[in-house]
Amino acid sequence: MEVTNCVVVLYLLLLVLPENHVGTSKLTPATRPLSYALPEARELKMALGYAEEIYLNFTELTTKNGYQTEEHKITTDDGYILKCFRILPKCTGNLKRYPILLMHGILDTSDVWILAGEKLGLGYILASNCYDVWAVNSRGNRYSRKHITLDPDKDIAFWNYSFDEIGMFDVPAAIDYILKVTNRPRVFYAGHSQGTTDFFAMASLRPEYNQKVQLSLQLAPVAWMTNIYSPILRALAQNVDFLKEVLDAVGLVELLAMHQLEHLVLEVLCQAAPEPTCGAALALSTGYEQGTIDSKVLSISFGHLLSGSSSKSLAHYGQLILSRKFKRFDEGKDGNLKRYKQTQPPEYNVSNITSPVVLISGKNDWLSSLKDVATLSSKLPNLVENYVVPEPKWSHHNHIWDVRSLKYVVPKILDYLEQYNT
Ligand SMILES: *[C@@H]1O[C@H](CO)[C@@H](O)[C@H](O)[C@H]1NC(C)=O
Ligand SMILES: *[C@@H]1O[C@H](CO)[C@@H](O)[C@H](O)[C@H]1NC(C)=O
Ligand SMILES: *[C@@H]1O[C@H](CO)[C@@H](O)[C@H](O)[C@H]1NC(C)=O
Ligand SMILES: *[C@@H]1O[C@H](CO)[C@@H](O)[C@H](O)[C@H]1NC(C)=O
Repeated sequence: MEVTNCVVVLYLLLLVLPENHVGTSKLTPATRPLSYALPEARELKMALGYAEEIYLNFTELTTKNGYQTEEHKITTDDGYILKCFRILPKCTGNLKRYPILLMHGILDTSDVWILAGEKLGLGYILASNCYDVWAVNSRGNRYSRKHITLDPDKDIAFWNYSFDEIGMFDVPAAIDYILKVTNRPRVFYAGHSQGTTDFFAMASLRPEYNQKVQLSLQLAPVAWMTNIYSPILRALAQNVDFLKEVLDAVGLVELLAMHQLEHLVLEVLCQAAPEPTCGAALALSTGYEQGTIDSKVLSISFGHLLSGSSSKSLAHYGQLILSRKFKRFDEGKDGNLKRYKQTQPPEYNVSNITSPVVLISGKNDWLSSLKDVATLSSKLPNLVENYVVPEPKWSHHNHIWDVRSLKYVVPKILDYLEQYNT
């Protein structure tokens, strides 16, 4: 391990070690309720002058903006209970033919699609263009921290998942549920970041689901990660096995959740001074060019970002970076033999993705590099377009939070949806 890597890793361990530990005696019932109450400490946040949008949840935000929302619970085949928000169409024309499923990125939630406000939030834009909008929350985030038998606070097994399981179970369950409720033959799908990886995993592993997707729009697509630029994530990836071992040993299997320290610190800093704190955090991890997202949207976003993930999800991405392949989780030799009947994890076969795909990426996205997107696009059998936003400093979150997305991204999305609304 190089010295610089060592410093980064130790620093991060110091940050996360004081957190809640699942399945070990370190988690005390006395400390848990306090930390769990903090994200909901609304009186305090009001007194501190927080913008309301920082702490309002999905339904409260849509209600405030005059959109009607339903809450749905979807149970997956392996027992996770997912919360899904449906924004009802708010328009005068005819309802579009297919409902649209929105899938958020890692450490994120359904809120990502609306927190930029009524003019810019894709969830609102779609609803006002007569789409029936379903914003799903994948397992483990603040809205979907539930299972029919497992307790996320006590059972390590709850956190034994990555985007592989989200693709195998969560997305198919959501598609089937939506089709059943709406009585339609197919859905449109839009994913951001890990929401795209979830889709690529599903459509490769369970290709029969391609027939249930009319068109997918993949914003900041992540599959191959050979050319990821972020130096911090590279350093973490170099040490992914060591890190996962340490975290597993102490029961730290839920990371960066809303009730954990990192969220609270960033939320406070971002409220006080969005650009130098949260802007810098985004810049370091995603290549974000400071000043390109309105500072109010930036500070609101960090009330919703860092909503929890399994350490295995992050480790799986680390493995993609190291192996330079888009493959299933490496459980170690014995684990692989048990799970895949071979010593190495198999690659996702993206040739199986027969449904039409639009890729939308940016030139300055440190997580989703153009080279890696090109690798993916060259292998997709039904690629509609590999669209690169023509702005040099466009990064991971500009697609959804930059006001210029109304010029570069939203018209693209609406045009393609209209074209496939047949
Ligand atoms: C949103 O917040 C309101 C008010 O605190 C609460 O009643 C509701 O259950 C919350 N909804 C979700 C999905 O968390
Ligand atoms: C986690 O799940 C995988 C896949 O189902 C399984 O192969 C593995 O043994 C599980 N790991 C643990 C620690 O339970
Ligand atoms: C999908 O890919 C796997 C390899 O990962 C392959 O075994 C399977 O046959 C493919 N399915 C279809 C329908 O082509
Ligand atoms: C991947 O899927 C394609 C199309 O279904 C199939 O022709 C090919 O054999 C598969 N490759 C592997 C390695 O399974």
